[in-house]
Amino acid sequence: MIDIHCHPLPAVDDGAQTLAEAAAMCGMAAADGITHLVATPHCNYTYRFDSERNRRLLAELQAAVGPSPHLLLGCDFHLSYDNLEMLLKDRSPFTINGTQYVLVEFDDHFVPEQLDHVFYDLQVAGLVPILTHPERNPVFHRRPEIVYRWATRGCLVQITAQSYLGDFGARARQLAETWLDQNLVHFFASDAHDTRRRPPLLSPCYQKLVASKGPEVADLLMKKNPKAVIDGKPLPQAPPPVPPQEEKPRRRWWPIFRRR
Ligand SMILES: [Fe+2]
Repeated sequence: MIDIHCHPLPAVDDGAQTLAEAAAMCGMAAADGITHLVATPHCNYTYRFDSERNRRLLAELQAAVGPSPHLLLGCDFHLSYDNLEMLLKDRSPFTINGTQYVLVEFDDHFVPEQLDHVFYDLQVAGLVPILTHPERNPVFHRRPEIVYRWATRGCLVQITAQSYLGDFGARARQLAETWLDQNLVHFFASDAHDTRRRPPLLSPCYQKLVASKGPEVADLLMKKNPKAVIDGKPLPQAPPPVPPQEEKPRRRWWPIFRRR
């Protein structure tokens, strides 16, 4: 398996804080069957993104853990106006393994709906945005249909493996399953931050995918698609997106008190 979203670089963000913690995360990933792991430090208002430092830390970490997993560099890129300008000016520090693919994350409280022109600009610049973990974002909880619209406009979708297993709550799991049924999901990744609460484990997710969707889908989402990303190739052919169905309104509590 290949993990395209993970935070093992020590002391650059809220992921691993020491080289020992980082090496433990990598060891855990390798033992889980992860052959390639993309380190994706945050680039947002909280953490300073320094590509030179990231490259140096990645080399130190690879030397510490040995050949497996093979470590690559990317970025957990916060899509703000300033960051977008930076990306369009010089993509190389931010894309996954220097390819055309870039992870994009949104604020938990505000997702501008009219982003079609931004995705268009990115694609004109030869970039392919990968929307990270929309199932964990309260804005998408309220408006899940936005993901279909963006996915049909060239945006790829990455779900967190733990969400699919229910570790981020019922709504995140339900959306992961719904979007999976709609063929809107292109990747599962760990988005790991440590070895305890947010570990770099993909095999439980892979097993659930095999059980619910079959081995071809599991291989596509956790091996073939991420391999295409790190190699900078187009994704393999996949079934077309299915439009969303209207969600049933939630049951109200008041009928149980209604008088007969
Ligand atoms: Fe992340």
